[in-house]
Amino acid sequence: MPFDCRHTGHAGNGLNDADVAHTLKHLHQAASGRDALVFARALPAIIAGKFTGRSTFEAAEPYLAKAYIPVSEEFGRFMYLTALSRGARNIVEFGSSYGISSIYLAAAARETGGFFTGTEKDPDKARIALENLSDAGLSRWSDIREGDALESLAPLEGPVDFLFLDGWKDLYIPVLKLIEPKLAPGAVIFADNVHSFRKTLKPFVDYISDVSNGYETTILDIGSGVSLSVWRPAN
Ligand SMILES: C[S@@+](CC[C@H](N)C(=O)[O-])C[C@H]1O[C@@H](n2cnc3c(N)ncnc32)[C@H](O)[C@@H]1O
Repeated sequence: MPFDCRHTGHAGNGLNDADVAHTLKHLHQAASGRDALVFARALPAIIAGKFTGRSTFEAAEPYLAKAYIPVSEEFGRFMYLTALSRGARNIVEFGSSYGISSIYLAAAARETGGFFTGTEKDPDKARIALENLSDAGLSRWSDIREGDALESLAPLEGPVDFLFLDGWKDLYIPVLKLIEPKLAPGAVIFADNVHSFRKTLKPFVDYISDVSNGYETTILDIGSGVSLSVWRPAN
């Protein structure tokens, strides 16, 4: 579903809404159970990675296909509040998994009268993310585009006010460059895992840290490292 500026906002209870709060609580619990098992299975590869200079996440990556790997509640709330304070109406996410971060961002879209567009290449995850958004009562303000975000986001209408990058790390730059021509001045861009994928994400962090590329950026010690950028193009 395309961004629809006819929505007028809900002025609801945001993250305190009963359906949102209940769904998030249930999903955070389910995620910590499943992901603990996934990382236990990946442990031998993680230990081997210590001897070959690979980070924990890089070594575990082949095991992560059906893992949640969600944002923390702290970071989800931080993005929610940032989107609210920016009055972000067109909110986009690269890498939605089962929709935990999507619920925080769609809850913000409901408050601002905007729309949230998530992306997920795994069809089962995309379907379940849509069900989870529905359980949270957020279907009207959100969609998950199934498939490779580089394709599914190509026809996205701008201007984009808020972008969250959380899919596979080698695609942060291509996805950012795809959305860049559609970014609204002052748009906010968050990217997760800049510490845990330090090596892989170095070109991305270098790119958003160079003001001549149009971004002002800070790196935050939230979770496994988060970059926060504001799009300030020269013209
Ligand atoms: C770290 S998880 C996302 C977690 C989610 N943001 C959350 O907080 O709940 C990364 C997800 O990105 C998805 N992904 C990776 N590459 C993708 C691509 N090219 N297009 C769409 N989704 C992709 C993976 O399938 C995985 O589910």
